[in-house]
Parts: sequence; structure tokens; C-alpha cells
Amino acid sequence: MLLKPRQREQILPLPVVLISTLSADGVRNIAPWSNVTPILRPLEDVILASWIKRDTLYNIRQTREFVINIPPARMAEAVMSCSKNFAPEVDEFEQADLKPRHSSMVKAPGVEGCLAWAECKLLEEITREKYALIIGRVVHLEGNDDFFNEAGEMDYERAEPLSAMLGEKGIRFTRPVYAGRYADYKEMFISKSNNSPD
Ligand SMILES: Cc1cc2nc3c(=O)[nH]c(=O)nc-3n(C[C@H](O)[C@H](O)[C@H](O)COP(=O)(O)O)c2cc1C
Repeated sequence: MLLKPRQREQILPLPVVLISTLSADGVRNIAPWSNVTPILRPLEDVILASWIKRDTLYNIRQTREFVINIPPARMAEAVMSCSKNFAPEVDEFEQADLKPRHSSMVKAPGVEGCLAWAECKLLEEITREKYALIIGRVVHLEGNDDFFNEAGEMDYERAEPLSAMLGEKGIRFTRPVYAGRYADYKEMFISKSNNSPD
């Protein structure tokens, strides 16, 4: 099937996170975000893509910090409440009936009931005509004890982190399931032990 180049977002599953920020005046803001990814393993930086007209972007520019909250699938309704284009002076915790969670290294609160919280500081903004790329550094990271083992791995089948498949007219919310194959990172490297003295 031939797809239009702009449909590139419809060919891959996307994460759904909530970005919480504070305005310079202290107004609490939350917005769902799918254009978010860690920058390579095992570094500490992340990147977000934002349309220029976003309170989230404005707040990050003003305060140079933000929290990436990982919502469970059962939070999909609240996620959609936060997606509405409320005026900047509206407290979106109140609008979506979400409780704030104290952050350790940034002033912006996290969202209670999420699966993990990545407190981030702005490192760099790359600005284009229509969008901005925000590069942030995770300065504090916590996972919800109910869903993480001692190695810091999420029990994703129980936790059900929210993701999405985008369609032409709407979003279908999804969650991950195990595909039945585990791969140790070592598998990516050709072993030298049999054919090289070093
Ligand atoms: C699932 C989902 C993912 C979204 N991802 C993004 C995104 O990656 N970048 C973006 O600029 N807007 C994204 N949006 C739209 C914003 O969440 C929405 O415009 C919101 O009102 C912005 O709020 P703000 O102005 O308070 O920042 C997404 C919306 C939804 C529902």
C-alpha cells in the first residue's frame, strides 16, 4: 500500500507520556507527548519535538526544566483531558483531576499514579520554522516500586505503560506485550574469543 510521506507517524507505535511543567508564574501544566525518545543507550539525554505554539515549550524555555511522566493505560482519559488547548493560566492538574507528586531536583511537580518520573533540565533547543527540538538531561529518575524489579526493569505486562498507534482521524491507545524473544545485549557483538588472540 502506498502511503503519503506525512503518514510516517502511522507506521510505528509511539510512546505516550505526560510532560509536566511550571510557568514562570507557577501555573502547573500537563500535556501528553508522543514525540519523545531517549537519545541512545546508555546516555542520560532525551529529545522531544514540539510545535511552536505549546505552553509546554514556553514553560520549558522559561524555567529550563520539565518532568516526563509515564502514564499507565488506565490513565488514557486523563491523558486526553490534558490534551485540550487550555489557556496558559489554567491549572491542568485541577482540570484533569490529577494529583501532583513532589519532584526532587526540579520545581515542576510530577503526576501521581504514573509508572515512572524523569526529572529533566533543558540542555539545548533547536528551533525550526514550525517546530522545536528540546534536548534535556535526566537529572533524577524514579520508577513506581509496584512495577519495577531490583534491576530497575519494568513489569510492563502488569504496569501497562500507555502507547499509541496514530490513525488518519484519531489515536488508538495501546500497551506492550512480550513477543516471546529475549536478547542479551552481548548478542549484538561478534565474539572475538575463538578467532583472535586479543
Ligand atoms: C497522545 C498525544 C500525543 C501528543 N504528542 C505531541 C507531541 O509529541 N508534540 C506536540 O507538540 N504536541 C503533542 N500533542 C498535542 C499536545 O498534547 C496538545 O496540543 C496540548 O494541548 C498541548 O498542551 P500545552 O499547550 O499545555 O503544552 C499530543 C497529544 C496527544 C493526545
